[in-house]
Parts: sequence; structure tokens; C-alpha cells
Amino acid sequence: MEKLIHDIIDNYQNLKYSLLKAQTFNQDHFGFPPVYYKIMETDQVRVDAYKSAFLKYDNLKDKIVCEAGVGTLALTQHFLPYVKKAYLIENNPNLSDFIREKLDENGWADKVEFIVGDAMKIELPEPVDFLVGELMSIFCANEYQVQIFKHLRQFLKPDGKMFPDKIINLAQLCYAHFEDNHKHYPLMFTRHQPEELSQNEIINIIDLRQEEELTIDREVEFTPLLSGTINAVYIRSYVQITEGINFTGTDSLMPPTVVKLDAPAEVKAGSPVRLRAVFSYGTSLDQASFQVV
Ligand SMILES: C[S@@+](CC[C@H](N)C(=O)[O-])C[C@H]1O[C@@H](n2cnc3c(N)ncnc32)[C@H](O)[C@@H]1O
Repeated sequence: MEKLIHDIIDNYQNLKYSLLKAQTFNQDHFGFPPVYYKIMETDQVRVDAYKSAFLKYDNLKDKIVCEAGVGTLALTQHFLPYVKKAYLIENNPNLSDFIREKLDENGWADKVEFIVGDAMKIELPEPVDFLVGELMSIFCANEYQVQIFKHLRQFLKPDGKMFPDKIINLAQLCYAHFEDNHKHYPLMFTRHQPEELSQNEIINIIDLRQEEELTIDREVEFTPLLSGTINAVYIRSYVQITEGINFTGTDSLMPPTVVKLDAPAEVKAGSPVRLRAVFSYGTSLDQASFQVV
């Protein structure tokens, strides 16, 4: 055990950008490297949040469900034994054999329609009671959660539920160290946490039942608690899976992330400043802009 801790300490700096590499959704290879699936599957906090949401609705017993981006079935396996019918969508072809085998092994294949394709384009043949998806990334900047639910919600019954249904994006003014040309990094170890100079303020709230906007351009006022130089924002996304069941970020999903400002600025404790945040869902934080105006 002591050796393991030594190894971690020796590699703190090497690992600073490793989560970023693992979690960046890459169109070219239809998704993520295998290590990211392992990070997600082993994250009990993330999986339990979805399990609690399923449990709140009787594990979706006898319901018709559509899940987009099923990955390695880490969430799916917790409702599939109980549902009447499931439409499971995944566009990473490298996972198809694994998913088909799992469905056969567990005797679920008969009630599942497995669709290999882009969830933003799929047409469902009937209305569904539940729409499930975990295609989230911090601020929804990298993945297509917003676009996918915007498309699939047309197939949700009027009293149907979607998991998640709300995402709140927050930011703090901060100072951080960035190496090489990096513009942002998700936090794996608290020692990479930036110096925080303000409280969290809300940048925007995404109501997935009715969100239409895909590019966000907001100005938000911050009153610094401390004087000093800011060169970054420390961002978080709070997720409401369903009312009363929340997920506020771990290293596997929506990790608190540090993003460079367009230019550093001096702030004074108690003197308000305005931050302009511009970003588009399903692109990259590399293209986002945060600046003091
Ligand atoms: C963040 S992973 C989550 C996987 C799984 N739901 C879980 O919670 O462990 C998102 C998954 O959605 C898939 N995906 C991303 N965009 C998609 C799209 N447009 N259509 C279908 N699947 C997509 C990715 O390949 C990936 O497997």
C-alpha cells in the first residue's frame, strides 16, 4: 500500500492532464478510449445516482424505455431486467459485439431493440415512458447531451420522464497553473485545484425538457472575496437526474474543471466584475471563451 501511495505521489504531475485525454469525446473514433469506460463503470457515485433515479420509479417496471449512448451497459443493466421494452442506442461500433453478447447472456435480447447509430438521427417507432442518457461532459461543452435529448424528447410520452432533466452550470473566478498549451483540465487530484477568489455563480441552467439554445453567450456579475490576479474560471455542473436525485460531479463525470480566461485580470475584494461566457454544446472547451468585460 505504501508503494502505491509513493507511485501516486511521484506521478501527480504526470497525471494532471490524463483525465482530460481519457474523457475527450473524439468523433474520429466514435467515442472514448477503453480506459474511460473503466473509469465510468467503477464510479459508484455516478452509477448509484442513476440507480436511485430508476428505483424512485420502481426500476422502470413494465415501462418502455429508450437509452441513448449505452456504452458498456453500466447504467442499462440496472433497469433492463424490469422493463417491458427497451430501445438501446450506441454509435461506437467497437462496443456492438460486447453489447449483443451481454444482451444474449442475460436473456434480455427479446425485449431489446439495439440500434447502432447516431441518437440525434434515430426515429423511434413508438412513444416511450422514459428517456435515459448519460452523454454528459462539463457544461455539456464536449458531448451531445443537449442535442440528443432535444431530438429524442419528441418520442417521450407527455407524462414521460427523462434522466437527467436539468443541468446547472456554475463558475468561480480563480488563478491556476497551466502547462504547455493546455487551456483547460478536469481535476483528478485536489492539489491541482486552483486558488479560488470568488464564490460560485450560475452561468446557465439547462432544462433538458425544453432547451432550444445550443450556443450560450452570457454575462454574469461576480463580487470577488479576495483581491489578486485571476487567469481562469473553475467550472462545475450540477446534474438533477430527476427531482430529488442529484449528481454534482466526480472524476468520471462532470469533474470540476479549470478553464483559462482569454486574458488575465486584476480583481479587488468587494468590487464587482463582469464575466462573459461563450460556449457551444457538443464542441470543445478549447473553443469556449471566458473573459472579464
Ligand atoms: C459518457 S459515455 C456513457 C456510457 C454509459 N451510458 C455509462 O453511463 O456508462 C457516452 C456514450 O455515448 C455514446 N455516444 C456519444 N454520442 C452518441 C450519439 N450521437 N449517438 C449514440 N451514442 C453516442 C459514446 O460512444 C459513449 O459510449
